[in-house]
Amino acid sequence: MARNFPGIFRLENRGGVVEAPGMIHLDANASTPLRAEVLEAMLPWLRDGYANPSGTHAAARRAREGIEEARGQVAELLGAMPEELVFTGGGTESVNTALHSLNVHAGVGPALVSAIEHSAVLRYAESLPRGFRVAPVNAGGRLDLDALAEGLPGAAFVSVMAANNETGVLQPLREVCMMARERGLAVHSDAVQAVGKSPIKVRDLAVDMLSLSAHKFHGPKGVGALYVRGGLRFSPLLLGGGQEGGRRSGTENTAGIVGMGAAAAYMRRQLEADGHAAMRNLRDAFENKLVEELAGVTVNGAVAHRLPNTSHLSFEACDAAGLLILLDEAGIACSAGSACMSGRQRPSHVQLAMGIDETRAKSSLRFSFSTLNTMGEAFAAAVMVKRAVEKLRRVQGSGVGPVQVYCV
Ligand SMILES: Cc1ncc(COP(=O)(O)O)c(C=O)c1O
Repeated sequence: MARNFPGIFRLENRGGVVEAPGMIHLDANASTPLRAEVLEAMLPWLRDGYANPSGTHAAARRAREGIEEARGQVAELLGAMPEELVFTGGGTESVNTALHSLNVHAGVGPALVSAIEHSAVLRYAESLPRGFRVAPVNAGGRLDLDALAEGLPGAAFVSVMAANNETGVLQPLREVCMMARERGLAVHSDAVQAVGKSPIKVRDLAVDMLSLSAHKFHGPKGVGALYVRGGLRFSPLLLGGGQEGGRRSGTENTAGIVGMGAAAAYMRRQLEADGHAAMRNLRDAFENKLVEELAGVTVNGAVAHRLPNTSHLSFEACDAAGLLILLDEAGIACSAGSACMSGRQRPSHVQLAMGIDETRAKSSLRFSFSTLNTMGEAFAAAVMVKRAVEKLRRVQGSGVGPVQVYCV
């Protein structure tokens, strides 16, 4: 049965697919809307381009061409060779494949990962037969390079994310790669949040493997890619028909891959044109308005080293779960900086790793912008967040709160 998302798939004249009227989407780190040009690029493949790209007939050859064009577009965004890219079923699969392959080929010893990795890395690392070590971050949410250096001897390989999904803090990835290289260790980076939003060039970074996911930069969900440096020994995670040069079996998602290519091409042009200054301006206007007009607001994470789209804020004496409810009612989509476990809100491992105490962690929200947000939305959202915080402080100050949130 077709579901009704009021207004969601209406193309608006500012060049993209936007949420229902009255809804402001500030949850781009969770997922972004397809841009209009991405949807346009995908539609013919969804409608007519169904041939299996591994076939030998004309329709199959066209599908193969569509995939190879997209591979070139993604490669260009990353400064990689097209043949160094493997299309996958998303960020989680890319990360799991990278860690699997590194585990097969790296020397004996535990993996070394940062304390703030996404669960795609942490859960896979937990399954590694030789275990893993954790390198801490500082109060700004950046990797502590001295601690990393101490963890390197005896490690099998390294996995450090390029930018954190909660705080948007960029990690010193080039330094990590240089330090690991001195010891002959390979480095994987979960760059799911960084690709498209910050200039990630695999050669400059000297990274060995890098994961990305289309839906974080205006592409479709369920499509990702893994960069595998030419010459690096590789073992696939998914075995079967030998697609993607034997590196990822399974019939390719032609429409999804074409969409990822179109999204990559758009983000590369945007990065080259203004380094996402427009998106940064929205984030800064939103954040500055709240910091100036509301007492007890803390910006979390090293502000000089952030993605241009992410604002992670703590609101003193304000329960984030309650704020989320008020903001949802007001039509603002954002995220709590805490994970929902066993029906209770717990502070996220990222905030705890930064030394943020439990009370402050539970009063934190993440607002993340995309290239489709407008300055009007940034200001309207700031006004509504201010109102919601003031309302909640009044209620909680009167002893009524905190609001209980039950997770389903
Ligand atoms: C840093 C990071 N890594 C990995 C993932 C997983 O990506 P996907 O949703 O494409 O599986 C996410 C998604 O939130 C992420 O933020």
